[in-house]
Amino acid sequence: MEKKKVFTTAPLPFMGQKRKFLKQFKPALINYSQTATYVDLFGGSGLLSHTVKAIYPDATVIYNDFDNYRERLDNIDKTNRLIGDIRAILGDFPKDKRIGVEFLKRVLKDDMAGYVDYITLSSSILFSMKYVQSFEALAKETLYNCVRQSDYDATGYLHGLTVVSKCYKELFAEYKHLENVVFMVDPPYLSTEAGTYKSFWKLKDYLDVLQVLDGTKYFYFTSNKSSIIELCEWIETKTPMSNPFIGSTTATMNATMNYNSSYTDIMLYKYE
Ligand SMILES: C[S@@+](CC[C@H](N)C(=O)[O-])C[C@H]1O[C@@H](n2cnc3c(N)ncnc32)[C@H](O)[C@@H]1O
Repeated sequence: MEKKKVFTTAPLPFMGQKRKFLKQFKPALINYSQTATYVDLFGGSGLLSHTVKAIYPDATVIYNDFDNYRERLDNIDKTNRLIGDIRAILGDFPKDKRIGVEFLKRVLKDDMAGYVDYITLSSSILFSMKYVQSFEALAKETLYNCVRQSDYDATGYLHGLTVVSKCYKELFAEYKHLENVVFMVDPPYLSTEAGTYKSFWKLKDYLDVLQVLDGTKYFYFTSNKSSIIELCEWIETKTPMSNPFIGSTTATMNATMNYNSSYTDIMLYKYE
C-alpha cells in the first residue's frame, strides 16, 4: 500500500494556518479519543483536520471549509501552470528583486479564462504577508521575484475528511448534543489580519465563539493580542458580573483620521 503523505504545512499558502502549532497540537491529541468526532469549526486551510486524521485514522473529522479553500486545491494544476510560466518568463532574473509588469498579460489570460488563485500567486510576486484578491489590485502593486521553484502538491490532503462549508454556529448546533465530540476552535483574529478572510471580526463575534466552549471538549486558539484570556480571568474574579453602563446614555462622534480611516469616539453618561 502506498504510504500516505502527512502534510506539516498547508499545501497552498494560507494566512493564519496553525503550522507552527502542530508540534504542540499533535502530542496534546493523546488526551482525546482516537475514535471521537473532531469538528474543525474554523477549518481555514484544513491543516488541523488533516493532522487529526493522519494521527487518528479511525476518527471522524469534519473540516469546515468556510473560505472555499477546496476550490484553490481543485485548481492546483492551473496554479502550477501559471506560476511555471511566470518562472519561465522571468528566467534568471535575480531573486527578491523588483520586477516589471511583463508577465501580467499571462495572469490576465487565466483571469479572463475564469480562475486565478490570487492568494497563491501573491506569495510568488508580492512581499511576504501581502495578498491581493484580484487582477486590478495586483496591477497596482510593486512586484518582486519570489517565485516558488517547485510545484505545489496537495495529493491526498483532504483524504478521509468530511468537508462542509457553513457558519460555525450552524455546525456547532449540529454536533453539540452528540457524544464523544471534540471541537477545534480557531476563530479569525480580532479585527487584525482579516485581509484574506471573507469577514471582519469584531469583539462581539469573538466573544460569541466562547459559547461553544461551555461544557464541551475543545482546542481553542487565540493570541495575546486579543486579550481574551485576560478578559475571561477578570470576569471570573469580579463576579457577579454586571454591565456598569446599564442605565447610561450613549453619544457618539465620528472622527476622521484621513481619507480611508475613521473611528467613533463614544461618550456614555449616567446621571441618576
Ligand atoms: C484563524 S483561521 C483558521 C486557520 C486554521 N486553523 C488553519 O490551520 O488553517 C479562521 C478561519 O475562520 C473562517 N471564518 C470566518 N467566519 C467564520 C464563520 N462564521 N464560521 C466559520 N468559519 C469562519 C475564516 O475565514 C478563516 O478561514
